[in-house]
Amino acid sequence: METAATGRKKEKGPFKGRSVSVVGDLSLDEQYYLYQKSRELKETLRTGGDTSAFCVDDPLMAIYILFLEDSTRTRESFINAARFHRTKLNIFDADSSSFSKNESYRDTFNMLCGYSPYSVFVMRTKLEGVCRWLDTSVAEFAARHGIEKPAFINSGDGKHEHPTQEFLDEFTFLEHLGWKRGKIRIALIGDLFHGRTIHSKPDGLCIFQEVSVDLVAPEELAMPSYYIEKMEGNGFRVRHFSSIEEYLSQDDVADIWYFTRLQLERMGEKILQKEHQLRQAVTFEKSFLEKYRLPDDTRFYHPLPRNKEYPTIPSFLDETPLNGWESQSINGYYTRTVLLSMLGGATGLDFQGASPEIPSANDDFIEEVTPVEKVKPDYKVGIKPIETGIVIDHIEKGEDEGTIWDHIDRTRKILALNRMSSHGVYRGENDGRFKGIISVPGFLGFGPREMEKLAAVSPECTLNVVKEWKVVRKFRLHMPWRIENFGQTSCKNVDCISHPSHHEYTKPIFHRMLGHVFKCHYCDRLHNFKEIWDL
Ligand code: CP
Repeated sequence: METAATGRKKEKGPFKGRSVSVVGDLSLDEQYYLYQKSRELKETLRTGGDTSAFCVDDPLMAIYILFLEDSTRTRESFINAARFHRTKLNIFDADSSSFSKNESYRDTFNMLCGYSPYSVFVMRTKLEGVCRWLDTSVAEFAARHGIEKPAFINSGDGKHEHPTQEFLDEFTFLEHLGWKRGKIRIALIGDLFHGRTIHSKPDGLCIFQEVSVDLVAPEELAMPSYYIEKMEGNGFRVRHFSSIEEYLSQDDVADIWYFTRLQLERMGEKILQKEHQLRQAVTFEKSFLEKYRLPDDTRFYHPLPRNKEYPTIPSFLDETPLNGWESQSINGYYTRTVLLSMLGGATGLDFQGASPEIPSANDDFIEEVTPVEKVKPDYKVGIKPIETGIVIDHIEKGEDEGTIWDHIDRTRKILALNRMSSHGVYRGENDGRFKGIISVPGFLGFGPREMEKLAAVSPECTLNVVKEWKVVRKFRLHMPWRIENFGQTSCKNVDCISHPSHHEYTKPIFHRMLGHVFKCHYCDRLHNFKEIWDL
């Protein structure tokens, strides 16, 4: 539908304004929809059919291509995809922009989003989590100015993720497997530590029901444990091999081989000294073809680029049936054209599946319990009874004395109780286990926000409110599911957009995973709950 005034198409598919920072920003149903539509587009183009239904065709909408790190395939396939859509196409030159005058990401993108009624930003950055940050901060700017919320597409952020590469990879694997989603057997080979295309795999491979992953990398290039645990948590079978030769020396070999290059630019000096040896372990040698038998229909894939001097997939393989990486790379055009079509509103009106789940609310961490009736609660294990005030009990119960002392110190500093409390480490009367106690006489100004903070700093402690020598209210504090906006927290990943050294004034947000482990909202880095706090 068009309006006479602007000539703009007015369709608003369900994906308009959605950002893709990580693979999981599209649900599995949505990912599969993207693959099916890409298949349709590819076939229509091959047969010379009418592709107009995919085309956004909005001369006022802007697609910004903004690469702050080098690229050939991702950048050029997106530029070609954007041209398909007949929108404004802006190729942002970061080198001559006001980034050189220390302008923030937020100010830059606010301004860019102000020049069009709707914008989609395709961006690659060295910093991690940038799209997720901009998705909320620029949305606030857009709302203030009556502009449609823009969409952001992460085209690779540091070592974090590369979701659009993942989409084209999975599309390619589906083609390889004849569009059967039952089972996939894949070997991931090369630099599994730094490769962001690899880090998107634990989510992307979930498009298949039964997943078997063989990790082939020397120890120095091994996949970080977070992603291995994620794959195991998703029910994948995961095996480890230190070289291709070791992998081929056993019988159970995958028919999909996914190579990644050694990311020398991200490696430290110590690992670089072993470059040759590491590369050798993950390079396919000619002799392997004679010595070992690969499963029927084996294909090698690679997100590319290949190193022209030391390719891990050597060029003698180009002319063999093992070459899957060329068609894989071309598939980037179809999947990215469809993604832009979805975010541009042209594709999606026929989507009928589920959208991503929204995490449940954070409301169960303060539990009020009935205080034991005691006249003059004595805390006879050491703390003097108080007439009025608060007593924080059971701090780090069961830990050793040193740990508890450290934690008392941390709790007092973070809650600004350090000038007015008595405190100590004591043995519990009933079970003999050590615990910390902080008593703050005369202090009753402890509201819900302080309780939330205390729960996040000292989970499983109790908070006793004492009046006229009696505990009048007692709370057991459990770890919250989200830690947000306390002003004394920060992500400890120096490459995260929210790290204080980048001065983007990003609001630190952490999501609780298993136990007391938290994930940064922006870059997914895991933190022990104590690590989050700045002292
Ligand atoms: N696969 C990939 O991201 O390639 P480029 O770095 O050339 O974009």
